[in-house]
Amino acid sequence: MNHPSVLVVDDEPDNFDVIETLLSDRDYQLHYAANGQEAIASLDTFNPDLILLDVMMPGIDGIEVCRLIKALSKWQAVPIIMVTALSSKSDLAHCLTTGADDFISKPVNGIELRARVHSMLRIKQQYNDLQTLLKLREDMVYMVVHDLRNPLAGILLGLELLRSVEYPREKQNSKLTQIYSSAQAIQVLIDDLLQIALLESGKIRLNCTEVDLCDLIQSARSNFEAIATQKNQLLVTQLPETPSRKVSVDATMIHRTLDNLLSNAIKFSPANSQIIVNVEFLTSGDAKIQVIDSGPGVPDTLRHKIFEKYEIGTLMPALSQIGLGLAFCKMVVEAHGGKICVRNNQPQGAIFEITLAAELTTITYP
Ligand SMILES: Nc1ncnc2c1ncn2[C@@H]1O[C@H](COP(=O)(O)OP(=O)(O)O)[C@@H](O)[C@H]1O
Ligand SMILES: [Mg+2]
Repeated sequence: MNHPSVLVVDDEPDNFDVIETLLSDRDYQLHYAANGQEAIASLDTFNPDLILLDVMMPGIDGIEVCRLIKALSKWQAVPIIMVTALSSKSDLAHCLTTGADDFISKPVNGIELRARVHSMLRIKQQYNDLQTLLKLREDMVYMVVHDLRNPLAGILLGLELLRSVEYPREKQNSKLTQIYSSAQAIQVLIDDLLQIALLESGKIRLNCTEVDLCDLIQSARSNFEAIATQKNQLLVTQLPETPSRKVSVDATMIHRTLDNLLSNAIKFSPANSQIIVNVEFLTSGDAKIQVIDSGPGVPDTLRHKIFEKYEIGTLMPALSQIGLGLAFCKMVVEAHGGKICVRNNQPQGAIFEITLAAELTTITYP
């Protein structure tokens, strides 16, 4: 909340001047209304984050103004501090029962005013943050449902065609591949959603075993062979000539991380392009895995952002973008003590790079 908007409602302009002076060292935008009607009419213009409301005013008094504002769903979450010369406990209690959030007595004390305004604005900020989160969740649910429904519709249609006796036998295999790739898209999405929730809640433990990294890469690649072929893309693995090294990782998680990087590379790169998975064992003992494509690449300004949850970077027409995959990859890689980043490929494309600590035990093949 930059420069919070504070609406001061008081029939005495001098009282506004006092409040303005007492809050002059804060970065608030102060607005003034001379009576209740004017205050209510000006809500849309000033869009207040907080209202300081005088109680005794001619016409509609502050208590009634408070009741009216709190009855408007658009404004009911805006905190109202009653500024009052009333001092009896029952009067103050009455202010609170009409929906006021706090009160401050006249003559206004600067320290108290600043503290109460600050505390109410903090609550308003928390409310705004929750609203943003809620909106994000709603959008997310919509996108997830949409992203599940599309491949599911493809699967159902494909199965329907396969069931029909007239469907040509020679086309069956390619239809099955399409069904498989749609089912896989659904699986990747559901797995990402579940795993991220588990990783965030701290309920997941890495189940690390010693695995041959090159086997893991080959297995991930073979999962995507069919989908790449559909787009006429070539999936190439470049494995080190030296014997492969073992890495101590949660094989399922790292497999899923590679799945995400490969599915992105295939999704975002054009047809007839080449996707390379390059593996190197560094002298430091680390293993470096790169997924290299020649798609649109990632602009410098988004290099870090795309690893955050629900960040989809550049919007690409007709492609499903939810923004969970890379967040999942980052969580998994970092949980392994490794690093993930994206670089530019030349002349164009993206290089997603993972560095993992690798054991020095080598595996020799027969
Ligand atoms: N290989 C890539 N090439 C270009 N942009 C990419 C690539 N991989 C990811 N991105 C960008 O990062 C965003 C986030 O990716 P990700 O978290 O996997 O979510 P999603 O695939 O659902 O969009 C993508 O929407 C895209 O803008
Ligand atoms: Mg993705």
